[in-house]
Amino acid sequence: MDHPFVAYRQPRRAPDEMEERALSFLRLMASRRSVRDFSTEAVPRRLIDLAIETASTAPSGANRQPWTFVVVGDRAKKAEIRHAAETEERENYEGGRLPPEWLDALAPLGTDWRKPFLETAPWLVVVFEQRHGVAPDGSPIHNYYVKESVGIACGLFVAALHNMGLATLTHTPSPMRFLSKILGRPANERPFVLFPVGYPAVDCMVPDIARKPLAEVVAEV
Ligand SMILES: Cc1cc2nc3c(=O)[nH]c(=O)nc-3n(C[C@H](O)[C@H](O)[C@H](O)COP(=O)(O)O)c2cc1C
Repeated sequence: MDHPFVAYRQPRRAPDEMEERALSFLRLMASRRSVRDFSTEAVPRRLIDLAIETASTAPSGANRQPWTFVVVGDRAKKAEIRHAAETEERENYEGGRLPPEWLDALAPLGTDWRKPFLETAPWLVVVFEQRHGVAPDGSPIHNYYVKESVGIACGLFVAALHNMGLATLTHTPSPMRFLSKILGRPANERPFVLFPVGYPAVDCMVPDIARKPLAEVVAEV
């Protein structure tokens, strides 16, 4: 079978302009922080859709695009999700489910089982990974490198939100099975990450933590 190809061109830029653009994007991304204290101010749904559309440009194994972004704005649903997430997180933080070294690693973040942001943020976007696709006749279709693909899409989602001036948190209130149930997702989907999205609260504080310098994350061969 013959598969069509189309021409692809990227703008060719002078090295100086490339560096300028690279630095400006680096500065933008370096200014991003995970936010756990949101304003209740409304955010247009259109902005959420634009971030999802950007995320959905991610590369994916065999172009399967094995992701579903579920958008939750309904107050009652958000409250239900908060309640279920806090039930799991209480068990993690106070019920002995997280080992001491994990709790130590989390200490600088100042987090605990309470997740009020799941109700204050105007939107929750729950990303599901599609473990397999479903053919029209109901039979499963193999997906490839699902976690890698969905992880990249989530990265683009976070970047798109930050670029437009919105904040989010990469949240994994595990085990996250409750999200499939509350959101009525099909059996081929598994919850991957829960993103509360909104503006930071006016008095929002974030942990004073640092990113590793370049030399620590680069290896030369
Ligand atoms: C896969 C993943 C899961 C995370 N899960 C949580 C979470 O459940 N709760 C939370 O408060 N932060 C969570 N975080 C956020 C990290 O704590 C945060 O990204 C890290 O401390 C660095 O801070 P920054 O995002 O402000 O640079 C998660 C981040 C990632 C990438």
